[in-house]
Amino acid sequence: MEYKTQVKKTKYHNKFQSGLIRELALDSELRAKLKSDPAVIEAAEILKNGEVAALPTETVYGLAADAMNPEAVKKIFKAKGRPQDNPLIVHIADQSQLGELTAGKVSLKAKKLMGKFWPGPLTIIFPKNRKVPDETSAGLQTIAVRMPAHPLMLAVIERSGLALAAPSANTSGFPSPTRAAHVYNDLKGKIPLILDGGPSQFGVESTVIDLSGEEIRVLRPGGVSREDISSFLGEDVSLAAELKDDKALSPGMKYRHYAPQKKLHIFNFEDRISVLRQALKRAETKKIAVITARKSKINIKDLAEDNIKILRVFDHEAPEELAQKLFDLLRKLDADQSIKEIYIEELETAGIGEAVMNRVYKAAAAGEYSQPGGGDN
Ligand code: TXA
Ligand code: MG
Repeated sequence: MEYKTQVKKTKYHNKFQSGLIRELALDSELRAKLKSDPAVIEAAEILKNGEVAALPTETVYGLAADAMNPEAVKKIFKAKGRPQDNPLIVHIADQSQLGELTAGKVSLKAKKLMGKFWPGPLTIIFPKNRKVPDETSAGLQTIAVRMPAHPLMLAVIERSGLALAAPSANTSGFPSPTRAAHVYNDLKGKIPLILDGGPSQFGVESTVIDLSGEEIRVLRPGGVSREDISSFLGEDVSLAAELKDDKALSPGMKYRHYAPQKKLHIFNFEDRISVLRQALKRAETKKIAVITARKSKINIKDLAEDNIKILRVFDHEAPEELAQKLFDLLRKLDADQSIKEIYIEELETAGIGEAVMNRVYKAAAAGEYSQPGGGDN
């Protein structure tokens, strides 16, 4: 089915540009107003009718459907071209919604973490309630849940009364969308509605954690850092090794990810001159793009005497800023015909740097992860 994809904003759109998305998410007055905004009402109606809609979250845009409706959830997989064995995260607006999704008692540790990090970019894996369709959990006995920190997404959840299954709203294998325009670019004609909630504040997806073992394991690093979880609970938090064939871990990890069409190379800052010289040679008449997170600029003078082909040197002072811009940059550089290849500096993996480098390594190694039919995290 071909849709005429609408992109809609609410009356409160300007507020979402402020960078204070969590504060806005906790503003109950704003949420009440949003719930009667025509764009929110329309999204809620679409979702209640078993259709999909793209919605903003604080991490990346999500492609949402009623988590309890298997036919609706199938439409997510279809629109994205997502492999069936990759389970979805379910989004809620209130902890009271956990009951219909999870089985057994919610552990004390989970309660503590929800109290501290929700709403926000932390996804917790719970034992699954039998009522949740297999399509949503991709047949697993567990279900991933989070409470997002974008007031627009929360308002749609409340207005619809649904729990919303939502993976990132990109075509499988492409970089996750951090703007409504990215979603439009990937999914136009395939979905009825995109709500524009401004650029995503975090720019990398949520941290996915598993609490079932003795030690907390991060299955996917994301917006909440391992250090933050560890220091809050006063215990070690490990990073799960990414085993390509370990189905029980985080099934999405084995697929092609976040990848631009162009080749992405990672370079060590110390080697920048020799690496970039070689790159310029290979690019011949085309340009190379360099993404660096250092304050200290790469000295262009050291690189090419009269024929400088570096398009731009992006200079970021903080990994948070690089996280926020990364996917947008990759998409822009992909679309720029004058650029041959993309070079990105290797970053410290502390804090959100762990999530950023996780995405960068996967995008750079896309060939190795690639599977027939594509896929994504
Ligand atoms: O920030 C985010 O998490 C965004 C926004 C839209 O909320 N969503 C997102 O969803 O990134 P997606 O589907 O692109 O990535 C979900 C990841 C995948 O790696 C998937 O395999 C893993 O979470 N996952 C989902 N359910 C799981 C489960 N029950 N056990 C282990 N991993 C799970
Ligand atoms: Mg994804």
